[in-house]
Amino acid sequence: FQKEKKVLHEAHDYSAKLYHYLLRNTEVAKPALDYLLSRGFNDALIEQFGIGYAPARWDTLTQALERKGYALAEMEAGGLLSRRQESDGYVDRFRDRIIFPIHDSNGQIIAFAGRMLSDGQPKYLNSPETVLFNKSRTLYRLHEARPAIRRARQVVLFEGYVDVIKAWFAGVHNGVATMGTALTGEHAAMLKRFADEVILCYDGDDAGQAAAHKSIPLLEEAGFRVRVSVLPNRMDPDEYISSYGQEPFVREFIEGAVSAVKFQLIYLRKSHILLEEDGRIRYLRDAVRIVARRDSPTERELLLKELANEFGVSLDTLKQESLEFRQQEKL
Ligand code: GTP
Ligand code: MN
Ligand code: MN
Ligand code: MN
Ligand code: MN
Repeated sequence: FQKEKKVLHEAHDYSAKLYHYLLRNTEVAKPALDYLLSRGFNDALIEQFGIGYAPARWDTLTQALERKGYALAEMEAGGLLSRRQESDGYVDRFRDRIIFPIHDSNGQIIAFAGRMLSDGQPKYLNSPETVLFNKSRTLYRLHEARPAIRRARQVVLFEGYVDVIKAWFAGVHNGVATMGTALTGEHAAMLKRFADEVILCYDGDDAGQAAAHKSIPLLEEAGFRVRVSVLPNRMDPDEYISSYGQEPFVREFIEGAVSAVKFQLIYLRKSHILLEEDGRIRYLRDAVRIVARRDSPTERELLLKELANEFGVSLDTLKQESLEFRQQEKL
């Protein structure tokens, strides 16, 4: 088992170097390089993040691994190759894709994410889970972000690999991302060793905001203080930085991330029609319920005051309602 892992570590290392070399030095990689440049990547980023290119052929990596003497069946089990469909043998798993190496927390490459150059499906193809790669325990760039996370006792969670890279370039060095899968308790436990605060910097679309909403209780139960970046609808951090620049991104969405409860109140608005009195009443009741769960009386009072002002009701009424919720839920 240990031997199998060691061989796969080496094979991943070798594959990453090959993909990176091909991106840097070959004519077939020209569209991939142009694509990266069009998305604001530069040499330094390509270098630092070890980005590569897997050509469109079926056997680039297969042949290279075979020449190196690797057992192809083991490489298939390790997620680098696929079984040929119609006959015996193996083919490259990643073809005509930009390659992002994924490291474990020790900095060892354990998987790849491959992005299409066009709009086809699947947009990203990841390595399958293997003896090296467990998605619910892997965070993209944790090995590089860890010092900054420790220093700030804070981690920024992104949805996408490109978001982590662009945010790094913008000076946010404590950012990591999940593997396109939901945040797990295992992720939270890993991060809790280095940080006390999480900023959820997910995409501004409904899916991203829903994912942030779901992650809050998980993170709070793990003991984190949580803040949330509320990006404009249909923008992700990468797109925001490309459109408006690095400095506004950091100011508005990292420094300006709102508290978890503020986010929950914003999020709640999506499911109520505030133009109608009925909707306003239901919103207020749900909002007070969210506020009532906060431990700090000061925080509760401040939030209730804001709600009272906005909706033209008295603070006393909302305080009373909040108290009733607290009694009901034995808080
Ligand atoms: P770009 O278009 O390259 O900027 O990617 P993105 O990160 O903005 O993509 P999106 O917001 O759609 O998805 C966020 C993350 O989900 C990605 O970084 C991937 O980790 C994952 N993801 C997206 N599309 C796919 C897919 O087709 N398959 C898999 N397995 N994961 C995906
Ligand atoms: Mn290089
Ligand atoms: Mn998305
Ligand atoms: Mn996105
Ligand atoms: Mn994106």
